[in-house]
Amino acid sequence: MASKMKFVRFLTKTAALANVPKHIEHFSKFSPSPLSMKQFLDFGSTNACERTSFSFLRQELPVRLSNIMKEINLLPDGLLATPSVQLVQSWYIQSLMEILEFLDKNPDDQRVLETFVEVLEGIRNRHNDVVPTMAQGVIEFKDAFRRPDDAATDHNIQYFLDRFYTSRISIRMLINQHTLIFDGNTNPAHPNTIGCIDPVCDVTEVVRDAYESAKLLCEQYYLGAPELELRQMNANIIREPIQISYIPSHLYHMLFELFKNAMRATIENHEASRTLPPIRVMVALGGEDLSIKMSDCGGGVPFRKTERLFSYMYSTAPRPSIGDTQRAPLAGFGYGLPISRLYARYFQGDLQLYSMEGHGTDAVIHMKALSTDSVERLPVFNQTALRHYKLSLEADDWCVPSKEPLDLAIYRAAK
Ligand SMILES: Nc1ncnc2c1ncn2[C@@H]1O[C@H](COP(=O)(O)OP(=O)(O)O)[C@@H](O)[C@H]1O
Ligand SMILES: [Mg+2]
Repeated sequence: MASKMKFVRFLTKTAALANVPKHIEHFSKFSPSPLSMKQFLDFGSTNACERTSFSFLRQELPVRLSNIMKEINLLPDGLLATPSVQLVQSWYIQSLMEILEFLDKNPDDQRVLETFVEVLEGIRNRHNDVVPTMAQGVIEFKDAFRRPDDAATDHNIQYFLDRFYTSRISIRMLINQHTLIFDGNTNPAHPNTIGCIDPVCDVTEVVRDAYESAKLLCEQYYLGAPELELRQMNANIIREPIQISYIPSHLYHMLFELFKNAMRATIENHEASRTLPPIRVMVALGGEDLSIKMSDCGGGVPFRKTERLFSYMYSTAPRPSIGDTQRAPLAGFGYGLPISRLYARYFQGDLQLYSMEGHGTDAVIHMKALSTDSVERLPVFNQTALRHYKLSLEADDWCVPSKEPLDLAIYRAAK
């Protein structure tokens, strides 16, 4: 009897799996619906309705998942076939199937709503290691397949990973909001927060928190850390603290990464001297933008290499192992900057690096000051996206300087 039940379950699961491509095809025809910070706040305000949120998510999550799953399928064959990418893909399929189970469920049934929260928490945990696993896939692919200087493949992978990780940030945002708001608990440490959003996020406080954590790490490695010099300019109400509606954990993530980089550069650039120049942070609030500039005297990087620092293919650091939570290294696998820039861009901001080689680096985070301007920036799978993946290596439309010694005779002959 038990084995018969098992067999029936197996058949049902196989049938569901066979239908997955059909579902992906269906849901990827819809565009994701970007939410504004204000909409996120309204979803979680006092009259928050779990049923509405449930009905929205059981449609929106499959749409976001399917849109990005279409793009996974367009990755270069060699990368798609790596065990790591296959594993990530199987997580996406499993999560999509679990959410689709709720399509015909009754939103008025309290048990359905409770199971939905549990399923979402399971999905969030399943996807915890997506970033290092994808990174591993890229390494496997690079080792096995890639020709050096294959610019078209580099472009595809960079384009894909920026979109894939943005999609992941957005899906986790939706899941976190729903599970945090409807699990029945309030957050005693931060009673004002709505899910993971703080409607009055004190920016300089987050700067200080991130600095202190990076300082602790830095002191473990180098037995010292540069000081912090923090200034702020509130152009709207002078001398008032600078507060915006934002996700403190996202802001902390970006600042922590920037501080670790600035500290490492400062110390390695001043090994011979007895004093360390401070890291200067300026927080400025205007009518439209909130900007945070972090300046270090860490010697900078050559201008030619700046864009490379945001590349997933140009990681220089030693390879970290997956699930290594014991050791929190000061420098990771080169994803600090690219992922931080995605967090900034996710709500229509940006993160830029201005380096002066020989002196130091300014890293600037731009954010939207108004919650009505902070709207999710989401990838959508369409013909334009498709064209990016089909981009092949064409001849450059700017001359490439020859590395050979200039032989004027040949040059004239060729002309
Ligand atoms: N403030 C900085 N000063 C000098 N170099 C920097 C700075 N920030 C980043 N870099 C360079 O950019 C690289 C990539 O940074 P990041 O993406 O944070 O990855 P990781 O720190 O893990 O190497 C660093 O390894 C470092 O060489
Ligand atoms: Mg770093």
